[in-house]
Amino acid sequence: MKILVINGPNLNMLGIREPAIYGKSTYQDLVNLIEEHAKTKDIKAECFQSNHEGCIVDKIQEAYGVFDGIVINPGAYTHTSVAILDALKSVGIPAVEVHISDVDSREEFRKLSYVSLYCKKRITGKGFDGYLEAMDFFTE
Ligand code: DQA
Repeated sequence: MKILVINGPNLNMLGIREPAIYGKSTYQDLVNLIEEHAKTKDIKAECFQSNHEGCIVDKIQEAYGVFDGIVINPGAYTHTSVAILDALKSVGIPAVEVHISDVDSREEFRKLSYVSLYCKKRITGKGFDGYLEAMDFFTE
């Protein structure tokens, strides 16, 4: 089972960025957690982070025929990007949407998610554990 974990803009700033919302752990802490979890579940996980919409689209396209599942936190592109939604639809790889914060209890504009029109499951407000739950979706 090969899973691609995609994080969008500003998630490389975890630990520095709004710690009251996103916590004090860093992006590298998240990658370590995902890699440790993958080992226990017999998953091959690749983590990818980009601040650029087109790079995320490219990565999703490159996943075609390579990965069995995608875990995606598109960051702010969640609320704006039809291109990322279309990329997911193009490759047809099952995907789970993750948000560290509880997006539905924040500003109105965070309630709209384009990728949720495609994703099989949506996990919000569970911090880094949401990524692990998303990985488990593919193995259970
Ligand atoms: C986020 C929520 C988004 O609204 C925000 O733009 C992010 C992070 C989250 O993980 O809670 O960058 O996706």
